[in-house]
Amino acid sequence: MSESSRPLHIVLGVGAGIAAYKVASLLRIFTEAGHDVVVVPTPSALNFVGSATWEALSGHPVISEVWDNVSDVPHVRIGKAADLVVVAPATADLLSRAANGAANDLLTNVLLTATCPIVYAPAMHTEMWLNPATQANVATLRERGSIVLDPAVGRLTGDDSGPGRMNEPSDIAQVALAQVHRTNELAGKHVVITAGGTREYLDPVRFLGNRSSGKQGIALAQVAYERGAHVTVIAANVAEQLPSGCTVIRVETTAELEAAVVGTTADVVIMAAAVADYAPVTISETKMKKSDGGQSPVIELKRTPDILRELVTRRDSEGREQVIVGFAAETGDSQGTVSDHGRAKLASKKCDVLVINDVSGDNVFGQETNEVLIIAKDSSTEQHVARASKRVVANAVWDTVAKLLQ
Ligand code: CTP
Repeated sequence: MSESSRPLHIVLGVGAGIAAYKVASLLRIFTEAGHDVVVVPTPSALNFVGSATWEALSGHPVISEVWDNVSDVPHVRIGKAADLVVVAPATADLLSRAANGAANDLLTNVLLTATCPIVYAPAMHTEMWLNPATQANVATLRERGSIVLDPAVGRLTGDDSGPGRMNEPSDIAQVALAQVHRTNELAGKHVVITAGGTREYLDPVRFLGNRSSGKQGIALAQVAYERGAHVTVIAANVAEQLPSGCTVIRVETTAELEAAVVGTTADVVIMAAAVADYAPVTISETKMKKSDGGQSPVIELKRTPDILRELVTRRDSEGREQVIVGFAAETGDSQGTVSDHGRAKLASKKCDVLVINDVSGDNVFGQETNEVLIIAKDSSTEQHVARASKRVVANAVWDTVAKLLQ
């Protein structure tokens, strides 16, 4: 059996949040993959899902207080025996107790004694997540090496929606299992990721832009951070919440993006941003007025610099070791398929890896999922990633980059 399919001893800590009911599916994902799972709910979490459910699904007795089975010293034994601890849902209170080193129930004792990777999947109302107290606790846990996922954005318990929704069980499982085998795979590496789309202004209020939301770039940043990298995100007009734990540089125009990224000596640069290919030759300093009855304006455009090409040229002329990844938005046409256009683009841009999106239809921009073809210059990789969350796509991209970094 390979190291990556070895059965693991997983502790599944369950916090007192309504999302606890979804954690039954997370438990099933782990057990069906052959892992041994001990569930440790907090005493209050049993108000949401009771011991019988956890015992039946895990095949192990469930205890939540340090005063249960004392002769077995569970508060030390369970944490020390674990290969992985996953806490879901991680409530504001549980994150606070973990960050402060509290040991007032069995789960917090386990968190103090575990020496394996610990992954928290937060779930709470948006106000609680964004509260500086919670954010400080999250930062503390991350500084100490734990993985705290950014919660998903979506419908919360009531009618409200926003950041605070627990990530999908399959995504939590994927990130968590990856930690055991890949923790710190990118440690010591600096990676720069551009995300979003640039804007070219016509006047102070109007611009030429594109539909990129930045979600794929954000997922790439999250995964790189989870694999131990020092991450800089250059965000071009991204309205989405940017991942915490990363350095963020905000830009608007192609010229600003170019200034922020070209010359970087990072180990990896991923150009996930959709960069405007043309910009108006002149930008009016004042708002352009329409002249009633007059002619419609003709806007003269000029080419913007090709930043990806510039990065490759600079790296090669300076003889630096750097992995450069491009993205290609393609549609099939009479000249060739999406894959034909992608291959031609890889040859012309000379980057190391190209991630090709089929943007025909309405299946990429602003969506939570993506489907891509990943090709590497040295032919080491040609991988089709079937439609999956942008995080799954990001993991596939980093797997390819990690091979090239070795
Ligand atoms: N790119 C860039 N600078 C530009 C245009 C694109 O660095 N001025 C980068 C993008 O960030 C992406 C890759 O080049 O990583 C390919 O972008 P895409 O828009 O698919 O290709 P273009 O070079 O614009 O070619 P075309 O639009 O003609 O297909």
